[in-house]
Amino acid sequence: MSLPSVALAKEGHPALHLHFPMSTLPTVLIIGCGSIGERHLRNFQATGRCRVIACDNRPAILAAMAEKHGAETQSDWTAALADPAVTAVLIATPAPSHVAIATKVLQAGKHCLIEKPLSLNLDGMAALQAAAVASDKVCRIAYVQHSRPEVRAAKAFLDTGTFGPVRAATIISGQNFPTFRPAYREIYYNNHAQGGGAIQDAITHMFNLTEWITGPTASVLCDAGQQVLDGVEVEDTVAVTTRNRDGAIITYTLNQFQAPNEATMQFHCPGGSVKVEFQGTRWGRMALGETEWTWESFTPLGRDGPFTIQANDFLDAIEGKPDLMATLEEGVQAVKFTMACFESLRTNARATVT
Ligand SMILES: NC(=O)c1ccc[n+]([C@@H]2O[C@H](COP(=O)([O-])OP(=O)(O)OC[C@H]3O[C@@H](n4cnc5c(N)ncnc54)[C@H](O)[C@@H]3O)[C@@H](O)[C@H]2O)c1
Repeated sequence: MSLPSVALAKEGHPALHLHFPMSTLPTVLIIGCGSIGERHLRNFQATGRCRVIACDNRPAILAAMAEKHGAETQSDWTAALADPAVTAVLIATPAPSHVAIATKVLQAGKHCLIEKPLSLNLDGMAALQAAAVASDKVCRIAYVQHSRPEVRAAKAFLDTGTFGPVRAATIISGQNFPTFRPAYREIYYNNHAQGGGAIQDAITHMFNLTEWITGPTASVLCDAGQQVLDGVEVEDTVAVTTRNRDGAIITYTLNQFQAPNEATMQFHCPGGSVKVEFQGTRWGRMALGETEWTWESFTPLGRDGPFTIQANDFLDAIEGKPDLMATLEEGVQAVKFTMACFESLRTNARATVT
């Protein structure tokens, strides 16, 4: 009997074509195959390292996953979870359902990758954390910017301590959201209670990424408003000033109507500065006394590239290898960060991240 051919195309390695039974590969169940779930589906398929099952409660979505990607399908995630062949689950439903589903996934003994934001509040969080501790399974949050090579390289340099600790940082990002999500008025984005708005949906990426590099935030002062995007009442623009627990002062700005799709992060230390530019897939450093940046550039990955790296990282993690994905605790911290932003907006005062 001939065995299926499986392409192993890990980042940085030429594709290897091996022959071994599909049953030896992990099975990843993707719950929620809307915009991001479909992207995950094709990127997990592209790794050649797993079998993928698509799960969605909308029949038309499942039919599309089968037709476009040849995916196996399942309409009921609780039934799919009972399948012993399922080793891991990716949760790509809207944010309010993440914690309840993830808790069941871990209790069922499956590895778990949860889309951002982990949640909109701390309801059920203690039970999820307890389930994670009780299981010996991987639980990560899919903050995909961790997969950018320029970010990883800048963080690795800052971690050496060559310039000393980060004492100030500026994090500037934005894009024209309607270009990337023309249906933004009709999806969860239009409603805070479903995870919508620039704070919960967009700048959460930069909060988590910056905390990954500089450490946790202690307090925030937030301003935000609906400046341009029509047809929604949620904020499309955010400005936040924060203090890290170690005293570093960090400022963030993001809007969702600007022409350039860009993100620039600058980290300033006593001995020098580090800059990351998503748009150039590059990072630079400038020691105190120098006047020019020293840049390191990477090949642009395209929109799917970081998702393929993330898929490989998750598969590595479930094999017990080290990974650079966001942990559950970092996901909880990002939820507390966004909650503090709303508290600051409500009170028009600095809010503590607790
Ligand atoms: N990392 C990123 O760059 C990125 C980008 C977009 C969205 N997201 C996040 O991913 C999540 C989903 O966003 P989206 O844009 O894909 O939303 P979406 O509305 O396009 O898709 C969500 C899908 O989940 C399905 N679903 C909902 N409840 C379900 C259930 N109980 N069982 C099975 N399927 C169910 C819906 O039918 C829908 O197809 C959100 O948390 C969002 O913030 C992340």
